[in-house]
Amino acid sequence: MITKATIDRIMEATDIVEVIGEFVQLKKRGANYVGLSPFANERTPSFTVSPAKGIFKDFSSGKGGSAVTFLMELEKFTYPEALKWLAKKYNIEIEETVETIENKEEENHRESLMIVTAFAAKFFHESLLETEEGTSIGLSYFKERGFSAETIKKFELGYSPDQWEAFSATALKEGYQQQFLEESGLSVKRENGTLYDRYRGRVIFPIHNFTGRVIAFGGRTLKTDKNVPKYVNSPESEIYHKSNVLYGLHFAKKAIREEDNCFLVEGYADVLSVHQAGIENVVASSGTSLTVEQIRLIGRFTKNITILYDGDAAGIKASLRGLDMILEEGLNVKVVLFPDGHDPDSYVRNFGTNGFKKHIAENKKDFILFKADTLLNEAGTDPLKRAEIIREIVESIAKIPDSIKASVFIKECSYLLKIDERALISELNKIRLAKAKKGSAPPPTLATPNEDEIGFEQLESEKRPEGESQEKEIIRLLLLYGNKVIDWDGIANTYIGPFMVAELSDVEFDYPAAKTFVDIYRREVENGVLPDEQYFIHYPEKDIVDLTVNLIATKYTLSDNWYEMHKILVPDEQVNMKATILGAIFHLKKQKVGKILEGLRTALQKTPDEADQEILLNQYMHMKKVEKTISEFLGSVILK
Ligand code: CTP
Ligand code: MN
Repeated sequence: MITKATIDRIMEATDIVEVIGEFVQLKKRGANYVGLSPFANERTPSFTVSPAKGIFKDFSSGKGGSAVTFLMELEKFTYPEALKWLAKKYNIEIEETVETIENKEEENHRESLMIVTAFAAKFFHESLLETEEGTSIGLSYFKERGFSAETIKKFELGYSPDQWEAFSATALKEGYQQQFLEESGLSVKRENGTLYDRYRGRVIFPIHNFTGRVIAFGGRTLKTDKNVPKYVNSPESEIYHKSNVLYGLHFAKKAIREEDNCFLVEGYADVLSVHQAGIENVVASSGTSLTVEQIRLIGRFTKNITILYDGDAAGIKASLRGLDMILEEGLNVKVVLFPDGHDPDSYVRNFGTNGFKKHIAENKKDFILFKADTLLNEAGTDPLKRAEIIREIVESIAKIPDSIKASVFIKECSYLLKIDERALISELNKIRLAKAKKGSAPPPTLATPNEDEIGFEQLESEKRPEGESQEKEIIRLLLLYGNKVIDWDGIANTYIGPFMVAELSDVEFDYPAAKTFVDIYRREVENGVLPDEQYFIHYPEKDIVDLTVNLIATKYTLSDNWYEMHKILVPDEQVNMKATILGAIFHLKKQKVGKILEGLRTALQKTPDEADQEILLNQYMHMKKVEKTISEFLGSVILK
């Protein structure tokens, strides 16, 4: 774990405007900075950064938080990754404490592997550029394929000398341990225990994880011999799980976010050529069929995937089924075919950036329609085959979680397949019902056209836990006034925060983030600390930061007429602080008592046993009295 002292130093050094400024163009407006939201497509800037509070708030997407949460949201870093990024930016040395021995060992193990892979990437890259064999064989091959010096450098391409031990011997001499050389797959152990190089005589494509560290390699042979495998790739290891990795994602993620789309290609060469042509939102599944993990990885950055296929029919048919998985994840899938004999790499080299973009614009098809098209062409006029295909297509549509989107596809398919829309809908509902019976999820059946969909959102908001607003009000007051001293008649010399948590010690919070918040607050108070706004803005849990920022960053508090608004809003609640604080506490208590009463009423109705009924009734009467006391108290407090 990164030590508290290091975290404090990082927080002190961090200038939120500077950090966010690396990703978003910010303009000063009054005390704040504004810019276009990096999380939503917008034309008028609603993304606000407050250097004074050290927070950002994006009114388009609702996201907000500290510089750390910003990096976690945008770059999808974990908490420690975000801290490490900041530490690097501000040249702060990271101190870590040993958490548990096991954890540390695992972490050390992974770290050792990554140190070896980083060394190997450097070794291969230097072999490519600085040795005679590397330049004459590897570099000339890459140049012939049209890769620029810049691309070669950016993607750290390399060359592994055509000798048995060039790499392994160097690595051992430099002190890298045999265990990690083997586990990373860079070296292979002979029967006599010595090591030889895995990638001899191959050009090297290092594979980076999405934070940019090298975790594996692909080595391509330069021989045309059919008996030699074209690629040799790293085996699975503790740092490389093939199914979780997309080649090029580290270099593509910024553009994916900006374009709100991700191009998916098959091979390393496709990524390099397309990227080099200035289309940087491109990643490769590296020849394997796409996995759910990979789709989710893309889904963190965009909900739109465009798959670029080379035009080989067998390959296309094989992958049609697998693509339903992307629909299930709620992503939008488009498909582009390239003419026979071309892949994205060769196409972009032949026709240039504009030709490539034009081809995509003119040929991209929605996946469902693409599938319908491909299968129907094959079925010809055979009615039985056509019926089967229709079912298969509706099955794909049934996997789209968004029912509005599904209904759009139903419409388009009805047009394309020349089938009555109602027949497709009834087929769709049948599939969904069957699925719902099998699984546990309720069937999101599709309404027939004309029935409006708006009811959905309302239902969603009605499902919010009761009392959430009362609980949030408590948190808001803790944040705003928790470290103010109480000066009411009868109570003095105490802070509002500790007073509130003590008063609420008998209340069970239902809303999880609020419960955690109050638990933290109570714990800190017991430790003699009074946590303030900044404490919670920098708390290492996203839910807590979200809750905090949402409560303190409103359009009013972050806008320029902040004081104006406050003249109206704040004095009101500050003038009678006692009423504000006690009012909030007892409103929450009243809500909880109401809930208990409701529970008792239901229990009473259900119990046939008279003795039980009497007990319940007594409890009920007691709670009724409590409710009355609270109501009276609320009346008097608020009125005073
Ligand atoms: N692949 C692999 N092992 C193989 C063949 C292919 O791992 N024996 C993976 C590689 O990730 C490769 C991708 O599948 O990039 C696509 O294969 P292919 O189109 O044959 O390779 P390209 O990268 O396009 O190579 P090139 O253009 O140099 O032929
Ligand atoms: Mn190729």
